[in-house]
Amino acid sequence: MKAFIIRLLSILFITSFSIVLFWHYFPHSDEALNGPRGNQNPANSNDAAASNPRNVKQNPAKRMKSDFIDKLLASYSISWEKQNQNIQTYRSLLGSSCNAISNAVVTQVNSPVGTNITYDADQKKIMEVTPALFNLFPKESPFEKAPWDSCAVVGNGGILANSSCGKQIDSATYVIRCNLPPLSNGHERDTGRKTHLVTANPSILFQKYRALNERRRSFVEDIQLYGDALLMLPAFSYRQNTAVSLRAFYSLEDFSQSGPRPVFSNPRYLKSLAGFWRRQGIRSFRLSTGIMMASLALELCNNVHLYGFWPFGTHPYNNQPLTNHYFDNRPANNRVHAMPSEFQALLNLHNKGVIHLQLGECTN
Ligand SMILES: *[C@@H]1O[C@H](CO)[C@@H](O)[C@H](O)[C@H]1NC(C)=O
Ligand SMILES: *[C@@H]1O[C@H](CO)[C@@H](O)[C@H](O)[C@H]1NC(C)=O
Repeated sequence: MKAFIIRLLSILFITSFSIVLFWHYFPHSDEALNGPRGNQNPANSNDAAASNPRNVKQNPAKRMKSDFIDKLLASYSISWEKQNQNIQTYRSLLGSSCNAISNAVVTQVNSPVGTNITYDADQKKIMEVTPALFNLFPKESPFEKAPWDSCAVVGNGGILANSSCGKQIDSATYVIRCNLPPLSNGHERDTGRKTHLVTANPSILFQKYRALNERRRSFVEDIQLYGDALLMLPAFSYRQNTAVSLRAFYSLEDFSQSGPRPVFSNPRYLKSLAGFWRRQGIRSFRLSTGIMMASLALELCNNVHLYGFWPFGTHPYNNQPLTNHYFDNRPANNRVHAMPSEFQALLNLHNKGVIHLQLGECTN
């Protein structure tokens, strides 16, 4: 017992220490990939200063950050070439430890009546699959038809603004987007419009749609933007996600004949994915939606292109300050994700010819 407490304390200490360190050196490196999480903590307000390039000279922490970015960029290979051998290696690694095709979403096959669903971010919480819950699950995996020829995974980073990548994104066979991003109002040229899978972070349901406890029409109407895409809800990650995700599910079922089809992401898959990336050196409290979707795409598609992934406050090429997201500058919660190391991992995959990471403007 004593040993356990000492171990717990040291883990807590190390975790808080590394979080403070990251927070200090990478104050702007938060959920650019993930969309607004909306933790409006006043401690985040130093983000605005962090994105001011003039600060780079004065502040040693900022200079370290900019050296870090320079190093990343220096390693970014511009002449990208697909490496089938490396793709096979990563695919079979991911396939054997995570198996997105059968497990990424909760289905009647992987979660029969009477089994327990264990929450991935809340290990003490389980949900028994009752016949009523079971009836909400799709009969089989929506990914049975994979692999698709090409996937575009669209992150929400400020780098997507003025990228002109819309056409290229829409030319992919399968398009994955994160956290209900806006696609109209002038964004279309940069974001494209086609969507096959879109995630919804419960925080946006809580804030923008008042947890769906009141009128739900605007939610149902807004969501038609994504056509008949899959709407992926992390219903079984944190215990507070479940009720609001079920309300989203019922709202769509009850009020719209067409439109997105809600599915629940499978905590067993998310847990195995966290394990996969932990073994690759990413030690975060929780993976960002961006890297989850990039990993999913790696299993589902023969060619993976990432857009809008750049978790830093200045543009890699023109050094102009970037907003947190392509659609707003809302600061986000930096404390749960390890964005710089996630980004490094994706950059590594780019350099190995496994995925293509688009940083500059699209020319088409
Ligand atoms: C599910 O969890 C409940 C409560 O902890 C437990 O009693 C039951 O045996 C579990 N069922 C299975 C199939 O593991
Ligand atoms: C995009 O380009 C327009 C026109 O050049 C400019 O006014 C705007 O600030 C740019 N937006 C971003 C986020 O860089």
